Amino acid sequence: MERVLIIGAAGQLGSELTQALTNIYGGDLVIATDINPSSLEKFDYCKSQVLDVMDQGSLRNLVKKENVRQIYHLAAVLSATGEKNPLFAWNLNMDSLLFVLELAKEEKLDKIYWPSSIAVFGPNTPKVNTPQFCVKEPNTVYGISKQAGERWCEYYFQKFGVDVRSLRYPGLIGYKSLPGGGTTDYAVDIYHKAIAVEPFVSFLSEDTLLPMMYMPDAIKATLDLMQAPKEKVKIRSSYNLAAMSFSPKEIFESIKAHYPEFSISYKPDFRQAIADSWPDSIDDSRAREDWGWSHHYNLEKMTADILEHLPTYSF
Ligand code: SER
Repeated sequence: MERVLIIGAAGQLGSELTQALTNIYGGDLVIATDINPSSLEKFDYCKSQVLDVMDQGSLRNLVKKENVRQIYHLAAVLSATGEKNPLFAWNLNMDSLLFVLELAKEEKLDKIYWPSSIAVFGPNTPKVNTPQFCVKEPNTVYGISKQAGERWCEYYFQKFGVDVRSLRYPGLIGYKSLPGGGTTDYAVDIYHKAIAVEPFVSFLSEDTLLPMMYMPDAIKATLDLMQAPKEKVKIRSSYNLAAMSFSPKEIFESIKAHYPEFSISYKPDFRQAIADSWPDSIDDSRAREDWGWSHHYNLEKMTADILEHLPTYSF
């Protein structure tokens, strides 16, 4: 039996991607792993196991013992947390990717998925409709690690034939788990404050535009890319990916249409500089051309969907 391994499964993306992969492959063929033992409780529908991705020996043993053929490597330190401990973020983000790529080469694994991010762009990147190929001078350790990671992915594909695929996610917004340490996290937190009838304090200024995506679209993009025929995946660094762009003021207005009493104030902190270095909007035409990507949710549809489901969702 050929299995699919998810590393960092309990995170914001993994929590929903693991369910989607289980729907495709069945619970016996999906192994959710995370460093945090208590976080594995939610995976009662598939196999699960504690794994520290920095423990290369355990990772290799697990892959061999369970006949893993695909790895989704989602464990990472995100942008805001990374700035607090840059060397830790660099080591975790980089070493873990290299462990996975080496393992894929040695064991001739079928496919690897590794997320990149809009954080690969920097202050000298064109800000509007940021092209697939352009200047990238990221100035966060997270962005530097994602940019270097993209180079390694392309390298392993070209030199060793490792079928590694990647997307540059915009800020991901979902209601099924809380985000961990990103600059775009305000756009998740704001919905929780709205339904708790609490005022929201934004750590970004009111007009800070950032590219964003609702989680169902992110899951669809990931599965579409991973299921695309190999020859259609022409970019082996990472694909630009887009759905919508909005500012704190615009997401607030979309929520206020449902919750007229909701209020916001703005108190930018160190994350403002990170957001200012990232694009306003992304040109994802290569993803649309190469493997048929299309998104479904805009800001209004996303807000309506979250406000319908979040109040009754139990963590
Ligand atoms: N959402 C991530 C962050 O804010 C970007 O990939 O760090």
